[in-house]
Amino acid sequence: MSHKAERAVKFIHELFLEIEKSHPETGFNTPLFDQLIEALYVYRDHKDVELFKIYSISQHLKKDMTLRDFLYWIVPVERYLNKNLKDEDFIIYNKDDKSMEKKKNTIPLTIILDNIRSSFNVGSVFRTSEAFNVEKIFLAGYSPDPSNPKTQKTTLGSHEYVAWENHAKCLDLITDLKVQGYWVIAAETTNHAISLEKPFKFDKRTAFVFGNERFGMDPQVIEACHETRKVPLGGIKNSLNIANAASICIYEFAKQYHAWKV
Ligand SMILES: C[S@@+](CC[C@H](N)C(=O)[O-])C[C@H]1O[C@@H](n2cnc3c(N)ncnc32)[C@H](O)[C@@H]1O
Repeated sequence: MSHKAERAVKFIHELFLEIEKSHPETGFNTPLFDQLIEALYVYRDHKDVELFKIYSISQHLKKDMTLRDFLYWIVPVERYLNKNLKDEDFIIYNKDDKSMEKKKNTIPLTIILDNIRSSFNVGSVFRTSEAFNVEKIFLAGYSPDPSNPKTQKTTLGSHEYVAWENHAKCLDLITDLKVQGYWVIAAETTNHAISLEKPFKFDKRTAFVFGNERFGMDPQVIEACHETRKVPLGGIKNSLNIANAASICIYEFAKQYHAWKV
């Protein structure tokens, strides 16, 4: 693709995104929509079949279409640009429920992320923790925190609504939390791990520790925890992505806690 064509198709893509963003308020009867049609029309007689296909999108765009149908037509543009969409490219447009800000009732659960390498995984845990009203997240070892712009991008703002703190050494943190009366659980797929689904005790606050993407949890850290739990798996692979594992653990804890509270 020539640089010129790439720039023009990128512009078309940006128009799609702008229209998507403003649609809930404005609908499609806007100058931006007309501009998009005009930009697509540039390729009306193009010899390049792929660019001609970009033009043909214009034939499907109608001002009274639904947003879902409209977004169906962004896909060929993204494929053309070889654009690999990340999670944060989507969710931005969902409206947050700001009325919840003052109503937050945290659940007695703290998450410890020990030596997590990927800011995407940390951001994902922030989002789940915020959604389930987790009390606090500790970022132990070298886990990136939301002061890192890359991590901040992946939390989609959720770090503003969950308490978090850095801690250099996970072992010291666990010792501190135990002194404060926490029940500390290692989330890991060891042989002696009990099932995540076993009833939790709610007479103490709970902390769940998660380990590194490649190496899992440090055996010394597992040893320091009160117990080890695992998400029971039935496949050939014996572990989950850390952020997925954390989501399931948080969900199970929250489900049991809310059932216990009533
Ligand atoms: C990708 S896993 C590490 C896998 C590592 N290759 C291993 O085999 O130990 C990263 C972290 O996710 C969590 N995790 C993954 N699968 C889990 C499961 N089934 N139950 C509980 N935690 C899990 C653990 O905290 C683990 O340290």
